[in-house]
Amino acid sequence: MEPICAINREVGSGREIASIEIPRIGLGVWMMNGPNECKNAVINAISIGYRMIDTARSYGNEEEVGEAIRESGIDRSEITVVTKLRRIHAVSYESAIEHCGISLEKLGIDKIDLYLVHAPPEDPDAREPVWRAMEDLLEAGLVKTIGVSNYGVNHLHDLKSYAKILPCVNQVELNPWIQRPELHSATREIGAITMAYSPLARGQKANDPEISEISKKIGCTGAQAAIRWCLDQGAVVIPKSSNPSRQQENLESMGVNIDQVRNEIDLLDSNHVSGWDPTVEP
Ligand SMILES: NC(=O)c1ccc[n+]([C@@H]2O[C@H](COP(=O)([O-])OP(=O)(O)OC[C@H]3O[C@@H](n4cnc5c(N)ncnc54)[C@H](OP(=O)(O)O)[C@@H]3O)[C@@H](O)[C@H]2O)c1
Repeated sequence: MEPICAINREVGSGREIASIEIPRIGLGVWMMNGPNECKNAVINAISIGYRMIDTARSYGNEEEVGEAIRESGIDRSEITVVTKLRRIHAVSYESAIEHCGISLEKLGIDKIDLYLVHAPPEDPDAREPVWRAMEDLLEAGLVKTIGVSNYGVNHLHDLKSYAKILPCVNQVELNPWIQRPELHSATREIGAITMAYSPLARGQKANDPEISEISKKIGCTGAQAAIRWCLDQGAVVIPKSSNPSRQQENLESMGVNIDQVRNEIDLLDSNHVSGWDPTVEP
């Protein structure tokens, strides 16, 4: 399997192509709240081979992510930085532009690799102007690519009616316990890639007895089988761990083969929402 996922997007009216390649696995940094927890986690992750970091304004750690990247010894150009426009800031064109600028400052970088609308703006009338701001940020060169997060089938359908540039990613909860075939195919239909967040259901399923039993048969851990399952759906995956050995374990999912037990993992689907689910909002 390719370790890299290529994203191609037309910019403007087909005159330019914005193209980036992103790793299939990145480090999620939500809930890294201890002093320097995020910075240390990112430095360790980069040292063992992670090349994508998924943060957000709402995680309160964009500064630490930026510091860690600068101190990692790896060239900035080799690391994909993903951050998100917070929902409370996704209220107007101007607010979206302003808060992208603040994220750039906090991260201490001059371009965000992938900028996402964290969830469909609560005010449906704000969705179009916010997306227009995302497109303008792309055209202005402040972000390399743009995407959405927590957009459901209806939100994607509406987006198609007003977007000049379609999103290249829809970041949603996806794991063996919430498989969402319809949302995954609606995402693919608009030419976007699913980025699977909470691949371990926020850790709720990391030590789940059923997947532990299944994964024993193929000599990997339950977490690895779950992450591998997400990869095999064609998704990019962003497990969170502050723990160096678990970061390593998760990265090694790339080398796991679940073919022998795939049917058993497929049967784990229970539409389990581990936290919030804005995809079902109107
Ligand atoms: N767009 C959104 O709305 C949204 C929502 C949620 C998450 N996300 C993104 O997705 C990332 C990942 O999702 P998540 O943080 O919700 O949860 P997750 O990755 O499903 O699970 C993380 C939890 O599992 C534990 N864990 C990690 N690897 C493990 C392993 N190999 N074995 C046992 N336990 C393990 C972690 O603890 P340790 O740290 O102690 O290892 C942590 O408690 C987030 O960090 C964030 O970047 C986005």
